[in-house]
Amino acid sequence: MSNSSWHPQSWRQFKALQQPEWPDLRALEEVYAHLSRYPPLVFAGEVRDLKAHLGEVARGDAFLLQGGDCVESFSDFTANAIRDKLKVLLQMAVILTHGLSKPVIKVGRIAGQFAKPRSSPMEVQDGVSLPSFRGESVNDPFFSEDARIPDPRRLERAYFQSASTINLLRAFTNGGFADLRQLHHWNQDFVAQSPQGQRYALLADQLGETLRFMKAIGIDGGQHGSVLHEVEYFTSHEALILEYESALTRCDSLTGDFYDCSAHMLWIGERTRQLDGAHVEFLRGVKNPIGVKIGPTVTVAGILGLCDRLNPDNEPGRLTLIGRFGHQRIGQALPPLLRGLAPEGRSIAWICDPMHGNTYEAPSRIKTRSMDHILSELKSFFSIHQAEGTVPGGVHFELTGDNVTECLGGSHEIREEHLTERYETTCDPRLNVAQSLDVAFLVAEILRGSV
Ligand code: PEP
Ligand code: CO
Repeated sequence: MSNSSWHPQSWRQFKALQQPEWPDLRALEEVYAHLSRYPPLVFAGEVRDLKAHLGEVARGDAFLLQGGDCVESFSDFTANAIRDKLKVLLQMAVILTHGLSKPVIKVGRIAGQFAKPRSSPMEVQDGVSLPSFRGESVNDPFFSEDARIPDPRRLERAYFQSASTINLLRAFTNGGFADLRQLHHWNQDFVAQSPQGQRYALLADQLGETLRFMKAIGIDGGQHGSVLHEVEYFTSHEALILEYESALTRCDSLTGDFYDCSAHMLWIGERTRQLDGAHVEFLRGVKNPIGVKIGPTVTVAGILGLCDRLNPDNEPGRLTLIGRFGHQRIGQALPPLLRGLAPEGRSIAWICDPMHGNTYEAPSRIKTRSMDHILSELKSFFSIHQAEGTVPGGVHFELTGDNVTECLGGSHEIREEHLTERYETTCDPRLNVAQSLDVAFLVAEILRGSV
């Protein structure tokens, strides 16, 4: 594990878990060569801005809201789907900003979230065993032998879909759609009548009044104009397929540093965070903010190892730990970590992912998550940080801008018999819009001290 010899392909000397077995290595080489020449999707200056914001998150001066699909899909690729995912994140951010009175940093799981680690390399259905679906940048979710063959050309398609997605997101966030005076337009028809939709509308009314007041006294234009009309929005995904990530790594001409230009923020999954593994090796050399998912098996020594490898200079905003312990285990797992790390003085942004430790199979064998468990893990996360005197930096969700029925509970009271009505995810179950607003209101209430 030498520290001096990093280069964008040094990960190849390390063990890389969860990589597809590409049958056509020549095609993979060709794709790698193409991706290495294509334009970057994000720019180093933007990445540095996000890192500075995450430094504020680690100090408790800002709050991170990260969310989006478990895995993006090639078929659900429309302007409306992108717009609706942005809408729900903007709504949640308004609720949180209002409740917390601090800036909310908005980071989508979008424009690159195409690859999945799997607990088993094979999937069995009715006695037939085929390679697992690994995300559409690798193979197809359809259960047939052909569909499941990893095809590297899919990486290139994922790149172009990401480019198109980020282009539209940039247009929406800078072109007036995310203007704070559009608050009401983000509330979608299918939630407008729900308790959460109505609660949101009420908040939008209040804020609208404040904005009109600000306009009347003249703080609507000039230097404040861009704050109201534009929104800073960043992209993120799990840096899983190292061929894709390293091919999109570029040297910044301004600083001479390397940046993984596939997204602003990259994270390492729970299954690929080995200190001597290829993922940690690759990400230690790029300057992006890095997240690491941590589950109940992580130890203080393991976290210190991650800090040493990924953030040897202890730079604020560089390292975000995204805990996904599960509602039953967070109470035992998190406090010893916070206590053990307290004397070490490492700069860490602590985030709660209440989704991935709370997945289970309903009796109908459908993979789901319950709002009760999600809310319970969130409540524990905030109360543990309060008890330990540490900073709860933010939240990480799998959600969508649609009216799906994938998670149980919430204000629409989705029950098991509803799961099949609109179960559209190709991987993990996501919160729908009403459930997303539910969790945002709950977090805002907890942090205001009213729960
Ligand atoms: C995910 O975020 O979709 C994921 C697979 O998470 P984890 O690595 O925490 O299991
Ligand atoms: Co997931």
